[in-house]
Amino acid sequence: MKLILPNERSQVDAVSPVVLVTCIDNKDNSNIITLHMYMRLSPDPHLVCINILHQRYSHDLISNSGEFVVNFPSIALEEAMKICGSISGRDVDKFKEAKLTPIPAKRVKPPLIKECYGHLECRVTNKLQINNRTLFVGEVLSTSVDGELLINDNLDLIKAKPILQKNRNYYTISEI
Ligand SMILES: Cc1cc2nc3c(=O)[nH]c(=O)nc-3n(C[C@H](O)[C@H](O)[C@H](O)COP(=O)(O)O)c2cc1C
Repeated sequence: MKLILPNERSQVDAVSPVVLVTCIDNKDNSNIITLHMYMRLSPDPHLVCINILHQRYSHDLISNSGEFVVNFPSIALEEAMKICGSISGRDVDKFKEAKLTPIPAKRVKPPLIKECYGHLECRVTNKLQINNRTLFVGEVLSTSVDGELLINDNLDLIKAKPILQKNRNYYTISEI
């Protein structure tokens, strides 16, 4: 192997899962934002984090309500994921626009996305300002998953087909 110093555009560290995060405004209208800056932080307590630019409409919704849901889309939802990641909930109802179905969550106000295979209902516990972004840490209050994708209580990623992205190219997993 010959190691070289890559240029900025190669983004060696930019491979990440893509999630759809739901949130609500102060009239309980819901919105969806596509994010690749998502990470699991700790299993017990179950903590995750998301990183959102200040200018996003969802940024203020999550900041004000203190709640969000992380929804995991399969690659079959690629088009819906792109719609939720390219238009703003300030202007349109993204559930309608992306043809997704809201269903009530158990512990928080933002809805789950029915078509996604897994959901984490989160309450914001910490916020960290990083330049023009906020890193929201969420405590997971409830988790749900499509039971048909479980093998011995373990999520089968080959069947779930999560979306991974790098430089706006989208991938999924087809073998172990
Ligand atoms: C694959 C993908 C990943 C994205 N990841 C992020 C992200 O991690 N943080 C962020 O602030 N915006 C991210 N975006 C951009 C937002 O999803 C996009 O600007 C969206 O339209 C904002 O919606 P809103 O104004 O309704 O909140 C991503 C977009 C795509 C397509």
